Amino acid sequence: MAAKIRVGALVSGRGSNLQSIIDHCQAGKIDAEVVIVISNVEDAFALERAKAAGIATAAFPRKAFATREARDDAIIEALQAHRVDLVVLAGYLGILSPRLIETYPWRIMNIHPSLLPAFAGAHGLGVHEAALCKGVKVSGCTVQFVTAEVDAGPIIVQRCVRVEEDDTPETLSARVLEQEHQAYPEAIQLFAEGRLRIEDDGARVRVLGK
Ligand code: GRF
Repeated sequence: MAAKIRVGALVSGRGSNLQSIIDHCQAGKIDAEVVIVISNVEDAFALERAKAAGIATAAFPRKAFATREARDDAIIEALQAHRVDLVVLAGYLGILSPRLIETYPWRIMNIHPSLLPAFAGAHGLGVHEAALCKGVKVSGCTVQFVTAEVDAGPIIVQRCVRVEEDDTPETLSARVLEQEHQAYPEAIQLFAEGRLRIEDDGARVRVLGK
């Protein structure tokens, strides 16, 4: 086992990915510990999940700050106060300020419910609607590092699902979500083991062998 990394999560919604990460940590399946959960939505259910797991929480709603930069500075302060090694966006609806991204270079991950770069920029059920409109035969999820361009960072882990002829956005979303709940812990563990090497000026991630 590697030394445990300290994870800070940014969330906005129901927090099923957060729950999966917490469960993997608590079961000792990954060498990580979620030390702070921060939301830009005061009543996000994800915050309840964190509290139930005994994890520190903070809410920084947009309306409490004059600018996005000011809000993100408060987020940086909270992450630093908790000595976070890795930031995970787990259903976080918001664009990060350049300063936040620069404070954690190659140490911020996001999960997206498609096989990026397909359907970048879409979110929620809209991703699955777009995939079904195109008649894709496989879909899936992607964990990537966050860079300045939304949904364009280098890819860390992807998992596929078959698309069935009778899939609706809801049924496809549910099957992709099951894979998300495996993909995110897997990516965090690769990070914890120091196995992610950024190559080609940040264009791609090489996963090193054990
Ligand atoms: C997930 O589908 C994730 O890929 C996307 O937002 C959704 C969050 O779901 N970024 P949850 O809050 O983790 O349940």
